[in-house]
Amino acid sequence: MNFTIRPIQVPGDYDRIARLFNSVYFEVKTADDLEREDRRIPTSANLKTNENGFITGFCRERAVAVDDSGYVLGFAQAWLAPWSTPGRLSSHVIVDSRYYSNGIGKALYLHLEGWARSMRASSIQTELKDHLPYALPFAERLGFNVRSHNRYSSLSTASFRMEPYSDIIPLLQRRGFQLCTWKEELAKAGTNLERLYNLYENTYIDIPGKTVPEYTLAQWAEALSQTDPELVLTVSYRNEYVGISHLEFKPKGNFVWHEYTGVERNFRGIQLAHVLKLWSIKKAIELGAERLITSNDIGNAPMIALNEKLGYRRIPGHYVIEKSFV
Ligand SMILES: CC(C)(COP(=O)(O)OP(=O)(O)OC[C@H]1O[C@@H](n2cnc3c(N)ncnc32)[C@H](O)[C@@H]1OP(=O)(O)O)[C@@H](O)C(=O)NCCC(=O)NCCS
Repeated sequence: MNFTIRPIQVPGDYDRIARLFNSVYFEVKTADDLEREDRRIPTSANLKTNENGFITGFCRERAVAVDDSGYVLGFAQAWLAPWSTPGRLSSHVIVDSRYYSNGIGKALYLHLEGWARSMRASSIQTELKDHLPYALPFAERLGFNVRSHNRYSSLSTASFRMEPYSDIIPLLQRRGFQLCTWKEELAKAGTNLERLYNLYENTYIDIPGKTVPEYTLAQWAEALSQTDPELVLTVSYRNEYVGISHLEFKPKGNFVWHEYTGVERNFRGIQLAHVLKLWSIKKAIELGAERLITSNDIGNAPMIALNEKLGYRRIPGHYVIEKSFV
């Protein structure tokens, strides 16, 4: 099949790109969403090289594959953001499934790789759906290695029964644990964002495969400020934060994305994560969401065991793959 790769043209390509996104991601995007996102993103690159020789700052490349009539068959983008790991570009490559096995994905990857090398990036990473049998061999042929394997799970709110767990929350409250949303915490005198960040920092590095927190305090505070404070759930004990869950409601897809749960090491194994999970299911039901969706590293045995116990069912997940240029 004949196709060519060209830079994206906006606003004309937004609609097809949104449809391609929607074919692989849960979050439903429209052409307007993409246009709005673009307005917040700089139009030109701004890169520096840090003391270790890695690029930092911002740069982005976007391209589409089109057939002879100009119809968009696939989309690819790669970017470095100010909060990215220095040198490591992130990317998406999405091909319309009706046109798989025509070399379009490979051509888009190679296009991104050429650009990434010209930016002096050290590596490029992307995601690949784990239920496609040919996905990994394809990535390996292109020189990628698997960095992690994320398993996705979904829980239907309609079929969830809260009654068997009705004792857990009152029991922990009687033992002195306090459950508050971040909104309630913010209304209190002396709320300390840094202490909540410390909990995130201490727990994040216990996720299998993670060795450093994904965000600095400033980046994390920025992300938190953009989250609905009613959907950040905290557990405290004697004025110390010991548990946290972050949720995001996605009204277009009518689901709650369960972004994160962390429990301080000294407080594990006493059902605090159970409490946070039950509380988040209650929130999802109150919001009228059809389901909750979450993603876990395939090696995260406690979290997967807990999700399964609550009735989460496995759905296709993804591999995070990376190709190094150094
Ligand atoms: C995952 C985590 C939140 C669990 O917190 P917790 O408060 O100890 O969890 P709970 O006590 O409520 O329940 C844990 C369940 O996992 C089970 N479990 C613990 N280790 C396990 C293992 N190695 N294999 C299988 N199940 C395991 C426990 O038996 C318990 O289930 P049970 O009560 O039915 O017996 C905590 O370990 C943590 O903060 N880890 C680091 C951050 C992280 O990985 N977060 C998830 C990514 S979003």
